[in-house]
Amino acid sequence: MLYSLARAALFKLDPEVAHDVALKSLCALGPGVALLGAGADAGESKRVMGLDFPNPVGLAAGLDKNGEYIDAMAALGFGFLEIGTVTPRPQTGNPKPRMFRLVEHEAIINRLGFNNVGLEQLVKNVEKAAFRGVLGINIGKNFDTPNERAVDDYLACLDGVYERATYVTVNISSPNTKNLRDLQSPEKLDELLAAIMARRDALAAKHGLVKPMALKVAPDLDGEQVEAIAGLAVKHRIDALIATNTTIDRTGVEGHRNSVEAGGLSGRPLFAKSTATLRAFAKALGGKIPLIGVGGILDGKDAKAKIDAGASLVQVYTGFIYRGPDLIASARKALR
Ligand SMILES: Cc1cc2nc3c(=O)[nH]c(=O)nc-3n(C[C@H](O)[C@H](O)[C@H](O)COP(=O)(O)O)c2cc1C
Repeated sequence: MLYSLARAALFKLDPEVAHDVALKSLCALGPGVALLGAGADAGESKRVMGLDFPNPVGLAAGLDKNGEYIDAMAALGFGFLEIGTVTPRPQTGNPKPRMFRLVEHEAIINRLGFNNVGLEQLVKNVEKAAFRGVLGINIGKNFDTPNERAVDDYLACLDGVYERATYVTVNISSPNTKNLRDLQSPEKLDELLAAIMARRDALAAKHGLVKPMALKVAPDLDGEQVEAIAGLAVKHRIDALIATNTTIDRTGVEGHRNSVEAGGLSGRPLFAKSTATLRAFAKALGGKIPLIGVGGILDGKDAKAKIDAGASLVQVYTGFIYRGPDLIASARKALR
């Protein structure tokens, strides 16, 4: 009820402005925000990637790109948070407008393009946070780093976040950084994962602590691509797969005035495609690597469907924008 009033006001604003206003308001509420989140319940905890999650409902990457709202988000009742995508150097992203609502579809199209404050500032923000729960840090490459040198960006980010992250996600699936998704091709991915996992092992030896690595994939993959990526994830001992990022497909939103905007579609229209991709990965992996299901979760039933399709944990973004903090409680309840 409270959120539907706030939403009515927020949805009158430009989506990106509304995003900032909403998050800053949550921070201003301070510890009072905790009243919105349900308390921990022992029956909800899960062990995945060797980590203990107090509950299986997480915040997906991209909402808190810079790690500026960690404590406010944690207080809402998420079982884990993923911040980023962070790139080595700060960058402004694509020209505005670059985020569009498709309200009738409970969907968003965005082409933000990894706007973020850069690695150094993100690490400072994480250090300032009081949160001691599971914090994933999602890493990417700068828009002007050619794919041939992409590995350097991922390694720089991994070095920089290693001590501060509970797990690290390698994002090769955003549609908004030119050619990024080409890194999902078997030859490039094999090379990239070999370098990243060698560095992870070196960092683990140096710090005496192994941090799990997750790989985030697109929903726009055919069966052959799913098989190839799953095979490489197993070969390189990736700790989890996150399925999925946004889609470039416009099925289900044809005719909407914003459907012609370039970028990644998220929210309700992504659910079927994203869940089918999750299921295909679950089949290809045969239980060898756990999956985190994300894409189009709008209520508890959707969250449950992700678990039924093979996910061990779920994440939400667009559903949280449309349904507010109630979504966290209803997803947690459905997964209890
Ligand atoms: C505005 C916006 C920005 C996003 N930024 C990122 C990002 O920086 N890195 C990333 O891995 N995913 C990003 N995502 C993708 C989400 O994490 C998620 O995978 C996707 O939106 C599907 O989930 P949903 O339907 O619950 O939103 C972004 C999504 C949206 C809507």
